[in-house]
Amino acid sequence: MTSLRFRYDHLLGFLSEEEIFLMQNEIDVSHSLLVEKAGKGNEFLGWIDLPAHSDDFLLNRIETDSRLFRDKAGVVVIIGIGGSYLGARAVIEALSPPFAKSGGNANPLIVYAGHNLSQDYHAELLQFLDTKEYAIVVISKSGTTTEPALAFRLLKKHIEMKYGKEEAANRIIAVTDGSKGALRSLTEKHGYKSYVVPDDTGGRFSVLSPVGLLPLAIAGCDIKKLLRGAAQMRKACLATSSLQDNPAACYAAIRSSLYRLGHQVEILVNYEPALHYFAEWWKQLFGESEGKENEGLFPAAVDFTSDLHSMGQYIQQGQRILFETVIHVEKPGHLLTIPFDDADLDGMNYLAGKSLHEVNAMAALGTTLAHTDGEVPNLDILIPAIDEYSLGELVYFFEFACALSGYLTGINPFNQPGVEAYKNNMFALLAKPGYEEETEAIRERINEE
Ligand code: PA5
Repeated sequence: MTSLRFRYDHLLGFLSEEEIFLMQNEIDVSHSLLVEKAGKGNEFLGWIDLPAHSDDFLLNRIETDSRLFRDKAGVVVIIGIGGSYLGARAVIEALSPPFAKSGGNANPLIVYAGHNLSQDYHAELLQFLDTKEYAIVVISKSGTTTEPALAFRLLKKHIEMKYGKEEAANRIIAVTDGSKGALRSLTEKHGYKSYVVPDDTGGRFSVLSPVGLLPLAIAGCDIKKLLRGAAQMRKACLATSSLQDNPAACYAAIRSSLYRLGHQVEILVNYEPALHYFAEWWKQLFGESEGKENEGLFPAAVDFTSDLHSMGQYIQQGQRILFETVIHVEKPGHLLTIPFDDADLDGMNYLAGKSLHEVNAMAALGTTLAHTDGEVPNLDILIPAIDEYSLGELVYFFEFACALSGYLTGINPFNQPGVEAYKNNMFALLAKPGYEEETEAIRERINEE
């Protein structure tokens, strides 16, 4: 049994149980394509087994290297983009006390680079690092992605100036392909410690490989617990395709049915700001996996109750193309009761003695009822707490559901051909060697426009 529960009580006005269970045959087919590794993109199914065979040698190595970094660095810069950083960030941000992050009390403080090309962001990061003891983890499966490559070039220069080349090399760990790519060459040349991104695992499915596990261990997360949670969900997902017993299959079946009924946008909702980056990871997982061949649900995310005061109006009364998937955290990490106030000038005494969590839960229920009245179907995912085990379950739940959903639509969920379009234009505009024809064509095009 998984501790995560998937519920569809707030869907039943939109889809009957009978209609949901009509999806069973299609799910059976997609499930067997996945577990028998016979579907599209089957060379990228390594993620299915990542939590299963706990590789003690690898985990011990990660823990040893993490301890070294934790001892020597007050700040660790994680360089990566997309699937090479979002999974780690999602879990780190979920588990880090919010004010330790901004107040600098987290040890080490984790900061990010190479996930954008902003000059100001990177200049300010370098300035910040001038006075800090720091180390770098650079992650790129291909080893050639422009954003992390440029960030690493800037940071490598900075760290070498600060500590000298030899000590700088002790403060850098690379996570990349085992044999090819520019980052592999740099790693060999400078003697950095390194980890290999498995060939059979794409970026957005790689959080349970060293891509995610190394930064997570450095940030102080219990990676073995995360893997135990993921392994439990894996067991449930592989054991059966039954919509009654496999929560990821049930979620995939329902979201596909809603899509076919014209619900084109899925909004992932949370009521815990700690989950903000989890939703960023989720958006990438589903967006990059499903959005192909003019198909795919558009993945959006909101943080409630904050965004009820911005996006709430649209969700309640805008275009009726939405559905929501709400993550509920059953047990908060802290106790906080609303105090009684003699004057009661704010009129809040009617809530005195209740926990803030209870009020948040009533906001969630009230919102679901309002949104379903407004023709927005709601699905619910319940996790017991924000801890490594629950997050491990949640990661695997979404990965498995995403793969099934892709197969239900008939696309290959494991490639991302569309990402090349902007890169080709950027390389042509920047006159990258090898892009001479494209450079000429794009220059003509922009001169004509
Ligand atoms: O999910 C993916 O495959 C992508 O988001 C990649 O992770 C991202 O483009 C970064 O690629 P790389 O790790 O090769 O630098």
